[in-house]
Amino acid sequence: MASIKNVIAIASGKGGVGKSTVSVNLALSLKQQGYAVGLLDADIYGPSIPLMMNAVGQKPTTPDNKTFTPIISYGLELMSIGFIVLKDEATIWRGPMMSQAISQLLFQTNWSDLDYLIIDFPPGTGDAQLTLSQKADLTGAILVTTPQDMALIDVKKSMEAFKKLKVPIIGLIENMSYFICDDCGSEHHLFGQNKIELFVKENSINLLGKIPLDPSFVEAGDNGEPLYLSSEDELIKNLYGQLSLRVEESIATLEKPKTKIEDIQVQLET
Ligand SMILES: Nc1ncnc2c1ncn2[C@@H]1O[C@H](COP(=O)(O)OP(=O)(O)O)[C@@H](O)[C@H]1O
Ligand SMILES: [Mg+2]
Repeated sequence: MASIKNVIAIASGKGGVGKSTVSVNLALSLKQQGYAVGLLDADIYGPSIPLMMNAVGQKPTTPDNKTFTPIISYGLELMSIGFIVLKDEATIWRGPMMSQAISQLLFQTNWSDLDYLIIDFPPGTGDAQLTLSQKADLTGAILVTTPQDMALIDVKKSMEAFKKLKVPIIGLIENMSYFICDDCGSEHHLFGQNKIELFVKENSINLLGKIPLDPSFVEAGDNGEPLYLSSEDELIKNLYGQLSLRVEESIATLEKPKTKIEDIQVQLET
C-alpha cells in the first residue's frame, strides 16, 4: 500500500447509480494517460468488477501463501471477492466478516507501484465505508449520483460520512445525466437539470463531469467490454478523458494543504 500514490474511493449512498461503471471506465481512462492503475472491488455483497472486466472465473495465485497476485485485465490490476470465494457465499456474511474480507483484499494483494488505486465502494454508509476510510489511507472520494432526489439524498449522507472521517471529497460525477436522442441529436434531461448544480454549489464541491444515460453502458458491462474501450462513438471516450484530467486537477488542489503555508510563516517568524 505504501507504494501506491493515490487511493480513490468511488462512492454513492445508493446502489445502481453507476459506481462500478464509473470505476471501470475512469480506471481505464487513467491507464490510457500512461498511469499504472489498479481496481479494487470492495462490494463484497455484490461484486461486479469480474464480469465488467471480462475476468469471471479467474483465480488469483498466491506464491507465498500470504499474498495474492492481482488479476490483470485490459492492463489494470484487479482484485475482487468474486475471484476468491464461491459465487454467493459472501452474501450472507455479517459485518465484521465483510470488513475483514475488505481489509484482506486491500492489504494482502501484491499491488505494484501504482499511480492510482480505484476502490469501487459498496452502497451505503456502514461498516465497509468505515473500514476503508480508516484503513485505506484514502487520497479522497469521488461521489457518483444520478439526478433524482432519491439518489441525491443518499449521496449527501455518503458525503457527510466522508467529512466526519476526514476523507477529502475530490468531486462529484453526475451519471445518467441526460439522454442524447438518436433522431434529433439533442440532449434531453429526463430527471431535471439544475439539482446537481445546486447541490455542488451548496456543498462547495467540484462537479467533475456529466455522463449521459446510454444503453450501451449496460451491454458493455454485461459483456465485459468496457465502453471506454469498445465504444465507436468518440463522445464516451472524450467525456471519460476529460473526467480523468479533472480528477487529476482536483487531487492536485487537495494536495496544497494550508499547513504548508502556515509552516512557511512559522519559519519566517522564528
Ligand atoms: N450512464 C449510464 N447509462 C446507462 N446505463 C448505465 C449508466 N451507468 C451505469 N449504467 C447501468 O446501470 C446499472 C447499474 O450500474 P452499476 O455501475 O452496476 O451501479 P452501482 O455499482 O452503483 O450499483 C448497470 O446495468 C449499468 O450498466
Ligand atoms: Mg457496483
